[in-house]
Amino acid sequence: MSHKESENLLDKIVSLCKRRGFVFPSSEIYDGFTAVYDFGPYGVELANNIKQAWWKTMTQYRDDIVGLDAAIFMSPKIWEASGHVKGFSDPLTECKKCHTRLRLDALLEEAGIFADEKMSEEEINQIFNKNIKKIKCPTCGAADFTPGKKFNLLVQSNLGNFTNDWTKAPTYLRGETCQGIYVNFKNVMDTARVKIPFGVAQIGKAFRNEITARQFIFRTREFEQMEMQYFVKPGDDQKYYEEWKATRWKFYLDLGLSEKNLKWHKHENLVFYAKEAYDIEYNFPFGFKELEGVHARGDYDLVQHGKSSGQELSYLDPATNERYVPHVIETSAGVGRTLLAVLTEAYREEELAGETRIVLKLAPKLAPIKIAVFPLLKNKPELVKKARAIYDVLKLNWRCEFDDNGNIGKRYRRQDEIGTPYCLTIDFDSLEDGAATVRDRDTMKQERVDIAELENFFRKKI
Ligand code: GAP
Repeated sequence: MSHKESENLLDKIVSLCKRRGFVFPSSEIYDGFTAVYDFGPYGVELANNIKQAWWKTMTQYRDDIVGLDAAIFMSPKIWEASGHVKGFSDPLTECKKCHTRLRLDALLEEAGIFADEKMSEEEINQIFNKNIKKIKCPTCGAADFTPGKKFNLLVQSNLGNFTNDWTKAPTYLRGETCQGIYVNFKNVMDTARVKIPFGVAQIGKAFRNEITARQFIFRTREFEQMEMQYFVKPGDDQKYYEEWKATRWKFYLDLGLSEKNLKWHKHENLVFYAKEAYDIEYNFPFGFKELEGVHARGDYDLVQHGKSSGQELSYLDPATNERYVPHVIETSAGVGRTLLAVLTEAYREEELAGETRIVLKLAPKLAPIKIAVFPLLKNKPELVKKARAIYDVLKLNWRCEFDDNGNIGKRYRRQDEIGTPYCLTIDFDSLEDGAATVRDRDTMKQERVDIAELENFFRKKI
């Protein structure tokens, strides 16, 4: 696919998301709110299915991982101790002409110059100065910028602070969910009867004051993370790191992403907490970009919180009586990015007798609606009644939709666009032979299935 076609694909996905109710820009009736998005009726189903797939593979199917749901707001001391107040930043520059604020590493990269957000201020400014003639402001075209400066990404709030100068002692909206896991390490150990190696998984919102937020839901200021911290004995890091890399790679294949659209990226410049960091990148319409990070964080976080809180955040090995601070392997994925990757992979346009069929070939487990139930005609009460009765039974097991609007062809197209794997129609024959027509989204083939057998049929398929 050419660059232009790919950009075009993003536009098509954005348009489908709006048209069919997957994703809406936040606060749209007030002209929007930059870099924040809302999930619509089908988007929330898709996002929930992604989260459920993650939660099942990361907790339910494992004996060694427990779940947690820590609050978004935490003591500001946590963000001091974790290093975020000082070190969680991206390099920022400002166009002196139009005053657009830009992320410097992204600006350099777009000009084909290698840069990384984790570079020091000095390092990135050296590259910036050397290449200054090649770089233009994407808004006004000027080539006059302020020097790059680190900009802290933590979002501040006045929660619990009732003074007017709360900015002097702000509380923070969490910048990553995993800090809630570290500060509950002792609580989990004392209550969940876990033994090293074990993990704690959490899904929740995180917030970052991203400087430039483009590319739809890829980079937003409010987003959801699916993070798991796996606590291991020091020295075992590498073994578990490799295991987690393989496990997380497989997760995306199981969601239906194809291997050719996935690749590993090793970070040379490491973020302040990491000892080793690899990203799983996906081939988004704008190229290969980070989908998930797998990080070896060593004992950094537990040591920091142990020191700062004065609490003992270590582990006593019951077999050897050895006490140590566990090391951490972290897997950290974004819900929005996974949703965008899944939509990118699933989006197809097929030519059908001079018409274009837009279809989302989503894995059935991810599809917002699994089965759409139609009476052939809206104005035939006997068909509507039968179809409704079937819908009322099927919906107890699967997310279904009842639709009696418009002709069958139009109803199929609508379901194709939202990725519904099966459509079921009750026609006049159904009243005679007790069977329904089931149409497969991908092959568009139709088969007759006994109504009494429908539940078994779908159980095998979905
Ligand atoms: N706890 C480690 C951590 O937060 P990260 O690489 O900064 O690591 C992990 O983020 C994942 O969270 C990313 O791979 C991405 O999927 C998601 N993510 C991070 N920032 C995001 C943003 N601004 N918008 C959407 N998703 C984001």
